[in-house]
Amino acid sequence: MTESEAMKGNLERMGMTATETTGGQPAAAFQTEDFENWRNGPPASRWKHLRRELWHLLAWLHPVKRRQRTLWLTQDGVAFFRKLGIGAGDTVVDFGCGAGNYSVPAARAVGASGLVVAVDGNARALSRTMRSAGAGGLVNLRPGRRLSEVASCLDGRMCKAVLLFDMLHFMDAEGRQRIYRAFRDLLQPDGLLCVHPKHVRGDKPSWHFSRLSVDDVVSEIEAAGFRLKERKTGDMWHGHGTTQGVLLVFERTI
Ligand SMILES: C[S@@+](CC[C@H](N)C(=O)[O-])C[C@H]1O[C@@H](n2cnc3c(N)ncnc32)[C@H](O)[C@@H]1O
Repeated sequence: MTESEAMKGNLERMGMTATETTGGQPAAAFQTEDFENWRNGPPASRWKHLRRELWHLLAWLHPVKRRQRTLWLTQDGVAFFRKLGIGAGDTVVDFGCGAGNYSVPAARAVGASGLVVAVDGNARALSRTMRSAGAGGLVNLRPGRRLSEVASCLDGRMCKAVLLFDMLHFMDAEGRQRIYRAFRDLLQPDGLLCVHPKHVRGDKPSWHFSRLSVDDVVSEIEAAGFRLKERKTGDMWHGHGTTQGVLLVFERTI
């Protein structure tokens, strides 16, 4: 299969055509989730959203930031995954992948014999991920829009790692439990659940994490059948650059 055929297959899986990822309207987005409902929100929240989009655009155009991102996607991010023990042939799920700042270096780390399943409910974010992968010549990414699509994207493979980076705060307690349970069953016995908890107490608290601490997040994940293996602070990609962030690495207990 040629690279363009593989990419076309990936786009079809997303329910998109090439036009949709190259400037046309993206496929219907994840409208049911609160974080996508900014269009129907009060003027203040719409203004906040537009300001954020503008900030993203400026950062995207800034030559220094572009260079930093390229370095992250091609080198530093790959080193990040290698340090986690993720390598050739592994399977990784990046749930809530956003623009692919982790999916893309993960795809490089696992190589052609590995697989990254990049999942995002937001079609625009997912198409950014796939464009970024395509620009880097990567064809070992499969896109998905929701949890229920993960198993078919995995096609019988078990995961070496599942990434829940800067996304759990969007989900209520019940939704988070569903995620933990589903991924516990999809992880191989030595698999890792990697969590980058953001927007908890003391870290611009927001959404469903506004009253939770990192320790609370650890407790709820451990109660769902995991054991905290490692908790470290280091350079993580966030927004438009690297910053010191917390990484929680769990292993399965059951
Ligand atoms: C702040 S971004 C983080 C992106 C990426 N993980 C990173 O750290 O750079 C959170 C992403 O999670 C996605 N997301 C949130 N809840 C989701 C859900 N229930 N299902 C799928 N995607 C979700 C959002 O659409 C958004 O793109």
